[in-house]
Parts: sequence; C-alpha cells; structure tokens
Amino acid sequence: MSVKIHFCKCNKFVYIRVRGTYSRGMHSASVTLPSFAKINLHLQVIGRRPDGFHDLCTVFQTISLHDNLSIEPGNEIRMTCGDQRLPVDEKNLVVQAALALRKKYDIHCGASIHLEKLIPAPGGLGGGSSNAATTLLALRKLWRIDAPVEELHPLAEQLGSDVPFFLYGGTALGMGRGEIVEPIEDFEAEYVLVVTPDVAVVTRDAFKRLKARSLTKQDSKRILQNCRFELEAADFQYTAFKNDFETTIFAAYPEVERVKNNLLDLAADEAMLSGSGASVFAVFEKEETRQAALKALDNEVNWRKFAVATISRGEYREALKDVF
Ligand code: C5P
Repeated sequence: MSVKIHFCKCNKFVYIRVRGTYSRGMHSASVTLPSFAKINLHLQVIGRRPDGFHDLCTVFQTISLHDNLSIEPGNEIRMTCGDQRLPVDEKNLVVQAALALRKKYDIHCGASIHLEKLIPAPGGLGGGSSNAATTLLALRKLWRIDAPVEELHPLAEQLGSDVPFFLYGGTALGMGRGEIVEPIEDFEAEYVLVVTPDVAVVTRDAFKRLKARSLTKQDSKRILQNCRFELEAADFQYTAFKNDFETTIFAAYPEVERVKNNLLDLAADEAMLSGSGASVFAVFEKEETRQAALKALDNEVNWRKFAVATISRGEYREALKDVF
C-alpha cells in the first residue's frame, strides 16, 4: 500500500494529505483513506417540516482536516477505533453504512475497519457523516459492487442528512434536510483555522432550540428557490457567510461565542460557527496572520486548533481516487 503525504507550508500545525491506494494480494485488498471534515460557509434554517426535520439552505465545504479509515477484507463486519470514547458497534455510522450496503447488494463477505479519529466529535464538522460516506465508497470497491456513486445517494441519506455531501466533497449547496446536494463553484481559502472548544452540542437539541416556524410545502419551495438563487450567484467574498444557529448556540454556550470573538480580534477576515457547533472556523488573508493567531491562542489549552485549507471537489476525488 502506498500512502502519499504532502506536508503543507504551515510549520506548526502541519496538515497532511493522504492518498489511499488499494494493494491487491491474491485474495486480499486493503486501503487507507482520508475521511475529510466539512465546514458550513452558509447555513440558513428555513423552517420545521411536518416530519420533524428542518429544511435548510446550506453551503458545505470540505477541508483538509481528516480522519483515516483503514479497510481490509474479513468474514464479518468488524470495527476498531483509536478513540475509546466512540462506539464501534451498530451505534457507529461506519458500521451502519457497511451493514446497509451489504444488505442492499446482498453481499456475503465482511470487512475489518479501523478508524483513526482526528476530527472532533461532536463538533459540527461532519466527522461521522464523512466516515459513513467514505465507508460506502471504500466497500463498494472492496466488494466489487458495480454501481455508480449516485446509486449510493439514497443509502447515504438514510444514514444521515449530511452523509450524501461526502460522496462528492468540494463546495456544494445542501437543500431539503441537507441531503439534496448540488455542486457549485469552488470556494478556495488556504489559511483557515478551525477552533473547537470543549463543548458538546447535540444537533437535535440545537434544532429544537431554534424554535423555527412550521413550514408548508409551498413556503419551503419558495424560500428555498430564493436562497438557492442568491447562493448560486454569490462568490463567497464573505458576504454570503451566515449561520442561523449562532444566536441560540452563543446564548446557550458563551464559550463558543468567545472563540468567535477571539478569532475576529486576532485579525481573521471572517469567523463563523460550523453546523450546530461547537467548532468555529476563521479565514485569514495570510499565513503570517494565521500563525500569529495560533500563537496568541496558545494559552487556551481547552480549545483544539487546526490549521487547514479548503479541499476542492477535484482534490477530494484525487485523494479518494482509488475508490471512485
Ligand atoms: O440527519 P441527522 O441524523 O444528522 O440529524 C440529527 C438530528 O438533527 C435529527 O434527528 C433531527 O432532530 C435534526 N435535524 C433536523 N433537520 C435537519 C437535519 C437534522 O431537524 N435538516
């Protein structure tokens, strides 16, 4: 198995891009793949639907922060994880993804899956959703399932609202409950800082706290159309940055607001909550400014900090090319 590692400019918080490659033996194949995190450049909650979910208009963006998933053949579906706090049974989306794929295509073999967890969970960075989508892609290859990526989409959306996005990566609009994915022009930012305070936000509770208005189908369609029109036209010069969760999350967890204020005080061009939090991302103009911000945050020992860059759709496909 060959793993290609690029060390990028940033010297203090080096990030690594890993390209997974299948190695084939007589009867075996194994792979190690990056499972990337996302941020939400824009997140508008349109309202509550009759099924209890919320309609959204969001812009997903993959970033270079990633977990590593190592997958090899086995008779049963088995999962291990470096982080003992995470479940490795059917409560984990990785196992759910493997079981769902096996059932759908009537597969009679298994896989051993090891997850090296680096993305904070929970954190609003889509780590679990990304792991699930990457598992679907990897097992499709390992089990030689002859199906296009689009065919995995319904399975992905059953696993979670954010999972389908990770079948594509890059910059994409997310609509409906997030499962309707439409790729848009890449948003590029090289000097991003993601800061995750020691706060666990439960997504379901974050949605409840919003007390969003109930929607009729007509309302939803009209508002979504407007939002989509605006976002497709926006080129993300920060004017389109938005997150409807900020007010209620900041009120419930002042520490998260303190992260955002600190990043803005440290000369970030923009700082925004990601998903329902608690991670906040900040975009800097230059590496020097980002480094200075990182240094200034050294004493915040309970905040996890990640120097990252955006990952375009092309880079995403390249990193996962052995399973596409
Ligand atoms: O789809 P996912 O399992 O990630 O969602 C977790 C919870 O977040 C859901 O059970 C639901 O309560 C809430 N949610 C929502 N509207 C969405 C996405 C999630 O209300 N669009």
